[in-house]
Amino acid sequence: MLFKEYLGARKSVREYELKAIKEDDIKELKEVARLLNEDESIKIKYFDDGKTIREALDGKAGYSGVMIDSPHYLALEIKDFNEQTLIRGSYRMEATIKKAYELGLGTCWIDLANVSDEDLRSLFKDEIKPNYLVAIGYPKEKSILEKGLFKFMTTNKDFKNDPYANKIVKKGDTSGERIHLEDLVYKDSFATKMSMDEIAKRGFEEIFYLVRNAPSSKNAQPWRFVVEGCDIYLAILNPEEKVNFIDAGIMMYFFEGIAHDVGIKGKWNVLDNIEAKEYKDTKYSYVAKFNF
Ligand SMILES: Cc1cc2nc3c(=O)[nH]c(=O)nc-3n(C[C@H](O)[C@H](O)[C@H](O)COP(=O)(O)O)c2cc1C
Repeated sequence: MLFKEYLGARKSVREYELKAIKEDDIKELKEVARLLNEDESIKIKYFDDGKTIREALDGKAGYSGVMIDSPHYLALEIKDFNEQTLIRGSYRMEATIKKAYELGLGTCWIDLANVSDEDLRSLFKDEIKPNYLVAIGYPKEKSILEKGLFKFMTTNKDFKNDPYANKIVKKGDTSGERIHLEDLVYKDSFATKMSMDEIAKRGFEEIFYLVRNAPSSKNAQPWRFVVEGCDIYLAILNPEEKVNFIDAGIMMYFFEGIAHDVGIKGKWNVLDNIEAKEYKDTKYSYVAKFNF
């Protein structure tokens, strides 16, 4: 599935049919997670028995204290919790999530930051010590994935008609709005916003327009792009919040995918030194450079 199509349509799903995922589909998912698992500092594991996990974590994780009730979960452990590994971990998890979407499944990230080590140990034993879960299953409202309820503006024409639209998707639900395009892209430094005309002239409008529909923790959307000459840097705001590096990895996965869709070959290079900086009252870090 094209990233353009996927990113236009995706949303977090918090209500699931409590029926099991088809065996063949589980195999495919595990295959993707396994292939992506070849990294000692990152572990992704699929858990079939959602009920035990849901019951153990109710009141401790989920949505407003209510654990998201899905038939199964994926667990992500980032062993050293440093910036680069967080980025790689979420990039990989998001690839598994895209596969899930292609199989007609809904997903939702769940932060386990407020769950104690003791609770995690008694639930997952020595198998894994996850930092995040992803709920996974068939969405309760099938329409969410099938009817194109979240249809969007994915063409240049739509972009040109409504370049300042703050939302990609028309919806009044829990997904939340997205930041304006003009607040997302900067030129040379945080001092100057890149004009809409220049974004369009450089041929980036569709990419920047669509990537805003990436999920982020609490919909905080900490990602910003700084275009310096021919280079594009991904920056995140508030780098003291480690979860923002998870959001950065997700953003990198989508950006690359859409870039490839529109014929731009390239890859993000995560910076070796990720430093916290400040511009006026804004705290930020550059995290990666896009190599064309
Ligand atoms: C790293 C991360 C952690 C998240 N944690 C939770 C969570 O604990 N509970 C929840 O209901 N949603 C969680 N979400 C989902 C976000 O709230 C959601 O992506 C955001 O509100 C945007 O909505 P959308 O995904 O439907 O576009 C998380 C998302 C990310 C990327």
